[in-house]
Amino acid sequence: MAFIEFHDVKKVYRSGEVRIEALRGMSFEVERGEICVIVGPSGAGKTTLLNILGGMDSLTEGRIILDGEDISAYSPRKLIGYRRRDVGFVFQFYNLIENLTALENVELASQICPAPLDAAETLRAVGLGERLGNFPSQLSGGEQQRVAIARALAKNPKLLLCDEPTGALDYNTGKQILQLLEDTSRKSGMTVLIITHNSALTAMADRVITVRSGQARDMRLNPHPTPISQIEW
Ligand SMILES: Nc1ncnc2c1ncn2[C@@H]1O[C@H](COP(=O)(O)OP(=O)(O)O)[C@@H](O)[C@H]1O
Ligand SMILES: [Mg+2]
Repeated sequence: MAFIEFHDVKKVYRSGEVRIEALRGMSFEVERGEICVIVGPSGAGKTTLLNILGGMDSLTEGRIILDGEDISAYSPRKLIGYRRRDVGFVFQFYNLIENLTALENVELASQICPAPLDAAETLRAVGLGERLGNFPSQLSGGEQQRVAIARALAKNPKLLLCDEPTGALDYNTGKQILQLLEDTSRKSGMTVLIITHNSALTAMADRVITVRSGQARDMRLNPHPTPISQIEW
């Protein structure tokens, strides 16, 4: 059994008369400790699949297994615990709380989960040891994304879900963020899923899933991933 399994997952959004099939029978697997890059055009269903895997949205049909647990059968109450305990999220626009310091942003997340890592320690690990007392507005985009990654990692989650984590960053800053995600996975064995529309990043992945029209159209393994430091685009 794989660490993550999607079995024929369907997601239909309804707004009034309109039915949007965001996922149309999506099936794939990811093994524990892998860096998995998910690519595909805008509207393909990438964010939808990540949100459902992260317990932020529900599926319409199908089954999702994570670490042997059928999370698609979870009650809303069980999903709350799952989101708090098992999943770290990193978004394109950081989503930090502007009137809390870097340290407080990380502490806030670790307070709602059972076995958090030390917030200051985690910020030091992402290179922000000197910036604990800064507010988001006093940090660059790349530094804010580091805070967001620390916030996700401080929960000590089972998996890290990243939706276009470099989408708002310039080339070099984006590369540093990807380096941090790569280091995190390689050092701690964390399973990391990264959504991107930059196909050059597929080279850094252990596994590449191509999503199109709500389906996983291709799943490819890279026996020798290229370190992000050696990828140019
Ligand atoms: N909350 C929602 N309500 C209605 N339609 C949605 C919602 N979220 C996403 N969609 C639709 O589902 C499809 C897939 O969207 P999304 O998963 O965001 O794609 P991607 O992240 O690959 O760009 C799109 O057609 C989008 O408009
Ligand atoms: Mg998206």
